[in-house]
Amino acid sequence: MEAPLSSTLDEPVRHTVTVPVPEEMREVGRRLAGLLRPGDLVLLTGELGAGKTTLTRGLGEGLGVRGAVTSPTFVIARVHPALDAGPALVHVDAYRLGGGLDEMEDLDLDVSLPESVVVVEWGEGKVEELSEDRLSIVIERAVGGESTGGAEGEEESDVRTVTVTGLGARWAGADLSVLSVA
Ligand SMILES: Nc1ncnc2c1ncn2[C@@H]1O[C@H](COP(=O)(O)OP(=O)(O)O)[C@@H](O)[C@H]1O
Ligand SMILES: [Mg+2]
Repeated sequence: MEAPLSSTLDEPVRHTVTVPVPEEMREVGRRLAGLLRPGDLVLLTGELGAGKTTLTRGLGEGLGVRGAVTSPTFVIARVHPALDAGPALVHVDAYRLGGGLDEMEDLDLDVSLPESVVVVEWGEGKVEELSEDRLSIVIERAVGGESTGGAEGEEESDVRTVTVTGLGARWAGADLSVLSVA
């Protein structure tokens, strides 16, 4: 159902994107880069294989950072320095990050978090205290979504639903509809 036009400003802004194939998930990430500023926090929630890393890969491309974005499974956080004047990307696997904010600061990353874009996979419920202002992205497999997987051995594509919610003053009134792939 459409949100009522009368929704007040202190309600979080929310936008849902339907993503049929991995390449479009990457494109959502690239578009997301255009919305982000240094110091922004993005929490990515979704089961294993939902597409969190795929989206982050596009984000890294959009930000123009160094290094391939891969699953951070074997490290707590990986820093991708900016290639130009933009912010670095800090890609965190919160699954390995038990202690939230304190542990994040203890990581002694080679970069300043307020000057970086921080993306946390599996973030919800663990690192909210990092920042009241945050973009929460939930990726779900669309129920009854049609699989476009090809012949055996080919990578399967399944429709994902990406729900983006902007929380805090940072995101009040933000236009998240630019995330929709034309
Ligand atoms: N619509 C889609 N969007 C994103 N990934 C998809 C989609 N359909 C299939 N996939 C596949 O799902 C997997 C997502 O993996 P990944 O991004 O590493 O997930 P996560 O980081 O959430 O565990 C990839 O193999 C990708 O090719
Ligand atoms: Mg991942």
